[in-house]
Amino acid sequence: MTETLTAPAMQDLSAPEKIVAQMTPQEKTDLLSGFGMWKTAALERFGIPTTTMTDGTYGVRYSIPQIDGDEKGGEDLDAFLNMVNQRASDVAVAWGEMKPATCFPNGSAMGNSWDTGLMRELGELLGRECRAMGVHMLLGPGINIRRTPLAGRSYEYYSEDPVVTGKLSAAVIEGIQEQGVGTSLKHFACNNSEIERTSMDSVVEERALREIYLKGFEIAIKQANPWTVMSSYNRLNGVQASQDPWLLGDVLRGDWGYEGIVVSDWHGIKDRPASLLAGGDLDMPESPRRKAQLLEAIENGSLPADVVDRSCVRMLEFIAKALAGAETPAPQIDQAAHHARARAMGTQSMVLVKNGGALPVRADAKRVLVMGRDAETPVIQGSGCATTIPTMIDSPVDELRSVLPGAEIIQRTEADAEAMEIAKTADVILAYVSTEGAYDGEGSDRTTLALGPGQDEMIRALAASGTPVAVIVACPDAIEMPWIDAVDAVLVSFYSGQAMAGAVADLVSGKVSPSGKLSVTFPQQLSDVPGHLSYPGELGRHMYSEGVHVGYRGYAARGMAPLFAFGHGLSYTSFAYSDLSVSTSEITLDGALEVSFTVTNTGDFAGREVSQIYLAAKGRQLKRSTIELKAFAKTPLEPGESRRVTLTVTGRDLAVWHPGQGRWVLEGEEAELLVAAASDDIRLRAPLTLMPSLLPWRRVAYDTQPAYVLPNPHARGVIRDFLSARCGITADEADRALEHCANSFFGIFTTLERRLRISITEEETTEVIARINAAMDAAEAAL
Ligand code: BGC
Repeated sequence: MTETLTAPAMQDLSAPEKIVAQMTPQEKTDLLSGFGMWKTAALERFGIPTTTMTDGTYGVRYSIPQIDGDEKGGEDLDAFLNMVNQRASDVAVAWGEMKPATCFPNGSAMGNSWDTGLMRELGELLGRECRAMGVHMLLGPGINIRRTPLAGRSYEYYSEDPVVTGKLSAAVIEGIQEQGVGTSLKHFACNNSEIERTSMDSVVEERALREIYLKGFEIAIKQANPWTVMSSYNRLNGVQASQDPWLLGDVLRGDWGYEGIVVSDWHGIKDRPASLLAGGDLDMPESPRRKAQLLEAIENGSLPADVVDRSCVRMLEFIAKALAGAETPAPQIDQAAHHARARAMGTQSMVLVKNGGALPVRADAKRVLVMGRDAETPVIQGSGCATTIPTMIDSPVDELRSVLPGAEIIQRTEADAEAMEIAKTADVILAYVSTEGAYDGEGSDRTTLALGPGQDEMIRALAASGTPVAVIVACPDAIEMPWIDAVDAVLVSFYSGQAMAGAVADLVSGKVSPSGKLSVTFPQQLSDVPGHLSYPGELGRHMYSEGVHVGYRGYAARGMAPLFAFGHGLSYTSFAYSDLSVSTSEITLDGALEVSFTVTNTGDFAGREVSQIYLAAKGRQLKRSTIELKAFAKTPLEPGESRRVTLTVTGRDLAVWHPGQGRWVLEGEEAELLVAAASDDIRLRAPLTLMPSLLPWRRVAYDTQPAYVLPNPHARGVIRDFLSARCGITADEADRALEHCANSFFGIFTTLERRLRISITEEETTEVIARINAAMDAAEAAL
């Protein structure tokens, strides 16, 4: 008799607990660890196959040798480092064979779209390309806050603001996951610089964490429920983020109720059992050392069985989703159609920050001088694991020729004597420039906000010709513009992907009106950046010393004018705002309101206007940053057209985090809602009363000063009654005695003892404090 070997049928993944109950420690270890560089392990006994994941954030980077090499794919560290450390300009050489994919505008470009519909479409297209390549999960989006424009990976991230970050990333996640492909929201949390990226301790106070650095994650997770969250490389307040029970347990799973899996960043776990215990489910990529650590901890029982099993269940749930997503036939990708959409995304994301009239190029322009090596070889993306091998790349000059058929397009790269002669006779000069791409990107922050060598000089020389100069800047994040007053126009394209040149051509020619607005502040100079003094930390500790005052909040709070404000962006048309109505003039923590206003296109071009709603509030015990973005909308408008825009703002959107009480609160305050075209361009205002969800006084302790006790009626009442009983005086007399304590800077109890010549026992003090704080708790609960 011959035995036929058949693979076991896949066990029913809808009952993961049953599978986990049958698994050996080795199988659990395999399930909770990577298989090679980009896969989850197959569990043969249960008929469960591998699943595949790959980067990145704006394109699918599929390394054929690393994924398809053999069953496992590559797990070679050198190959991985080559990939992450490579410059975008020579990726194809170093990465071996890659599958081309559409290189869409990068995160810092798309962030300026302020368009959730466009982000969702980006997600759909990325998801389709994943499906076509057999990828079950894309390792993105990356949403760390762009705290400093120097950050090497800022080109992948959306904004310095958590609301823009959260809402845009939620839309991308929804778009990708609707295709049956998973996402990994990364890097959780506070990986805001590449300096000492795997060991730096980001020291961040709790308000800044909750209100700024975690907020985008919270919004995206609650709205879009990404299949996975990727823990970051750094330490957070002393604890390795991949092993942090507070971050992964209390906040992510506890406060936010997240039920997906936590994936480590690549080799980001230092102590595997500690990471599992904290909530880190999947350790990527495969590491024999960490697998041995995990196996031992499972076998010797030092890891509780229920913790291990819970992670195994989550992993099986993830695999079930990944396999189900791949059941429908893979889509055929029309590369030209995806390229066209990448171009449209570019046109809606680039930001025209200055325009004296040089743009759009006049229809009767005869000679257009195109300058700069970026017009020859455009910088379309940043460097690192996100870098994508494009399916095609637009040529700036070819694209200009096609949109400006009546003009002679003359191209020069250097501002030599001949070019300067041409400059004098041209109708307009388009100067394509970029930042130096030789060192920044993943693993390395920029060191300056300057353009690449020689480019400032080129711009100045061109401006001296007397012909209007429009500068087109490709950059990962903000730059300084020392020549700003000398040029007529500046279009910031950021890194806008493979169709960047076509998108620039559409905008420069006026085929499309610019509608991007800056999702970060452009400082006058690097030293203006909030947090500059403590960046990038020392001796392995990076203090986020500006607290909540990140980005535009820091400029507003200090009354500083940036070069270009957060939310700023020009158009070829103009927009008027009118008829503001707010559904209520007061809001509670659990309330909500609707803000409605009319936007009218008052110019001659069709355009899109990004409207922004800010809260202007000072805060009381918890200082605010003057303005905080709360909502936004992008509205397409034909010339002369008006539309009513309605946005919902909840009390929770307006809340601040109270570190003392560990909850979101609203302090009672007269505030304003601002409807703005930019953070420095307020168009409409409405008063808004914030109804308190907490008392305006702090809880009382032994050493609280009288000045903080006496205005608090709960404290005053309890102490008055105590004194009256203790000293045998009337309540009025006790109150007068208390008043007499007002100028003391000693604690209330010390002051009472000295002033009244009494001795208050520790038990009495404890009881009085407890009574005061209980009265305050009760009063607060009734608010
Ligand atoms: C990056 C992640 C990326 C991973 C896999 C890491 O170095 O920080 O963003 O997803 O590598 O390439």
